Amino acid sequence: MKYGYFDDDNKEYVITEPKTPYPWINYLGNKDFFSLTSNTGGGYSFYKDAKFRRLTRYRYNNVPIDDGGKYFYIKDEDTIWSPGWKPVKTKLDKYECRHGLSYTKFIGEKNGVNAEVLQFIPLDFLGEIQHVKLKNTSSKEKNIKLFSFIEWALWNAEDDMTNFQRNLNTGEVEVEDSVIYHKTEFKERRNHYAFFSVNQNINGFDTDRESFIGLYNGFESPQAVENGKASNSEAHGWSPIASHYIEVSLKPNEEKDFVFMLGYVEVDAKDKWESKSVINKKPAKEMIAKYNTKEKVENALNDLALYWDNLLGKINISSNEPKLDRMVNIWNQYQCMVTFNMSRSASFFESGIGRGMGFRDSNQDLIGFVHQIPERARERIIDIASTQFEDGSCYHQYQPLTKKGNATLGGDFNDDPLWLILSTTEYIKETGDFSILNEKVPFNNDVSKAKSLFEHLKVSFYHVVNNLGPHNLPLIGRADWNDCLNLNCFSQDPNESFQTTGNKKGKTAESLMIAGLFVVYGKEFVKLCRELHLDDEAIFAAKHINNMSEAVKNYGWDGDWFLRAYDYYGNKVGSNENEEGKIFIESQGWCSMAEIGLENGMVKKSLDSVKKYLDCDYGIVLNSPAYSKYYEEYGEISTYPIGYKENGGVFCHNNPWIMIAETILGRGDQAFEYYSKIAPSFLEEISELHKVEPYVYCQMIAGKEAHKPGEAKNSWLTGTASWNFYAITQYILGIKPDYNGLSINPCIPSEWKEFNVKRVFRGTVYNIHVKNPYKVCKGIKEIRVNGEKIESTIIPILDSNKEHKVEVIMG
Ligand code: GLC
Ligand code: GLC
Repeated sequence: MKYGYFDDDNKEYVITEPKTPYPWINYLGNKDFFSLTSNTGGGYSFYKDAKFRRLTRYRYNNVPIDDGGKYFYIKDEDTIWSPGWKPVKTKLDKYECRHGLSYTKFIGEKNGVNAEVLQFIPLDFLGEIQHVKLKNTSSKEKNIKLFSFIEWALWNAEDDMTNFQRNLNTGEVEVEDSVIYHKTEFKERRNHYAFFSVNQNINGFDTDRESFIGLYNGFESPQAVENGKASNSEAHGWSPIASHYIEVSLKPNEEKDFVFMLGYVEVDAKDKWESKSVINKKPAKEMIAKYNTKEKVENALNDLALYWDNLLGKINISSNEPKLDRMVNIWNQYQCMVTFNMSRSASFFESGIGRGMGFRDSNQDLIGFVHQIPERARERIIDIASTQFEDGSCYHQYQPLTKKGNATLGGDFNDDPLWLILSTTEYIKETGDFSILNEKVPFNNDVSKAKSLFEHLKVSFYHVVNNLGPHNLPLIGRADWNDCLNLNCFSQDPNESFQTTGNKKGKTAESLMIAGLFVVYGKEFVKLCRELHLDDEAIFAAKHINNMSEAVKNYGWDGDWFLRAYDYYGNKVGSNENEEGKIFIESQGWCSMAEIGLENGMVKKSLDSVKKYLDCDYGIVLNSPAYSKYYEEYGEISTYPIGYKENGGVFCHNNPWIMIAETILGRGDQAFEYYSKIAPSFLEEISELHKVEPYVYCQMIAGKEAHKPGEAKNSWLTGTASWNFYAITQYILGIKPDYNGLSINPCIPSEWKEFNVKRVFRGTVYNIHVKNPYKVCKGIKEIRVNGEKIESTIIPILDSNKEHKVEVIMG
């Protein structure tokens, strides 16, 4: 069942049934100021950091779900309704929620009144606009009452939800004209406040929640709205809110519009006050003036659309499969930018008060947006690398506000360093900017210890070499990419974290996934050394890679697939000998991508085993059979019920590793089948089972052994976005940036007759037309660039003043 449809021309997903199986959300804002908004108006806003600068309040774990947001109420005689359906939930004559690129538009209609609410954050602006249009579609005059509503958070979102003995006393507001100012804690250490305005006169307001809603009412029936009148309440402590009350009369066919703005203001400590206890409102007034008319709002929306056209325009495909085109051209790229902005902080599954930026997560995210915003990717790489230690290990996470490593969590996740080689080499291939390697980058944020970024890559590589176990395979540390495979953290205490326990010395447990990862990014390191003419360095490194491949062949092969690990006791993990967890996806993916044993059929066997034991209708599960009991020596992985998360779930992040590996074998049909099993647009028809948004990837889909296979959770903030984008564009469609040009090597379903890709690469436009007359999955017969046949499969960097035509014939 579907709850809406894709409107590709407008780059929107249009939800037509408000009761989606879970809130389907969107993100507003591209820099510094952000909002999350659900398809019924739920959500919140924050400045830079969802924990420390929360503007509006949100309730997690609420019943019903997703209550609390930015609401409008319309009272039309005795009928009260909301344009986004919630919170009032009056049945509407029409409901539509259009989630577009950084904006959301609600259209509600009831009893001859049409209400449109457009929410967005203009570029480089610290405020959200809510543009409300009310139109009388009936034949008689309408006199309606409009109420706005937001609830202020007292800035620190965690404290706001817990520290009531203090917080119920601190709330302060000011009201002047049509603007409600939130100034809690402004009098002391905060040099910032927020405001909620509307661009015309109001008939009243409320700023105290109890006066507006009533102590025993819910958001669905505020007493002020029921009474049809605001009480001009002034909040002192308790729960400050902001609500405008406006009486609107509309002749038949008449339309009126209102520009509401939720803004954030920072002032210099010396300019905080206008007069005693009266805040300096000048900066707020300037912000309001910037967008106080319909025309100004429309221009800003237009700028936003151009901004997105430009970002998305670097890669544009047209195949014969609209579901694929809309993923690649619109939604997958959009999601990659959202993960760039949010990392893993704020979604409807991440509370915004939890984790910092992950070292491995952020490096991997980068491969999904580097083509869109290379300059910001460069900055990100340097920020991440600055948290590395001199021996190559690194903090597992760092805080976005301070950019410092998180010492409580620490390091020792031994896959971490290698992802820096991935992000940096991908950045250079995309941009040609080798100069990044010469940047002086601190270790542990200590500038006195700064060395070139190249040195950081080198210590990343050697961190693995210097930390080998009894089989000459990489020691795993606390965990590798799979945060839940905690082979050195034996825990029996429910009050401690599996990942930070770290009570074993860790000199035995080895990871086959890191082994494969090392060979893949080790080869990248060698290739980079060769580009830099560091031949001795390259030869030296290549020996280690060779040794690793040998170690995998000798100790990492289980007969039909690659082992996953050796545990603390030196026993095999992910072996046919195990009772449960006989086979794992990660080592099949990485050892296959590393091409270890490609020549003697190991890769093919490994991938055939994936198909046989791990694949299911909803994607490839992480391990099988899932663990049915707790194994202290494996850790968190065995805590999850079977079929969920890292224990037998389809953990979507790792599926593309198998897709990429399949393209190495040239099995394009299989690669694309895996792609389409988890790509959200392909799952739109089963939305009632899938539950989460059909336009973005989620972290996890319940696996074949789960209670409810196919049911998904944790949409939006996941490395799944970047890896799937990488797999489809660079390995399946096969257009891959390289140091000296654009490599072309598609691996597609044999049925595909052709496809087109427009790729802007280093400022030059390549219009690539791939034809597949012989119905192959892989192989290139001929490439012509501007009509001339070329011998290589790498298109050189060409003159950026004109567009270039590339014709590819597969065969
Ligand atoms: C989560 C983490 C990521 C980890 C993955 C697998 O997505 O953010 O770092 O690799 O889980 O455990
Ligand atoms: C839990 C999750 C895992 C995530 C980790 C982050 O272990 O299962 O996916 O990476 O928490 O802290």
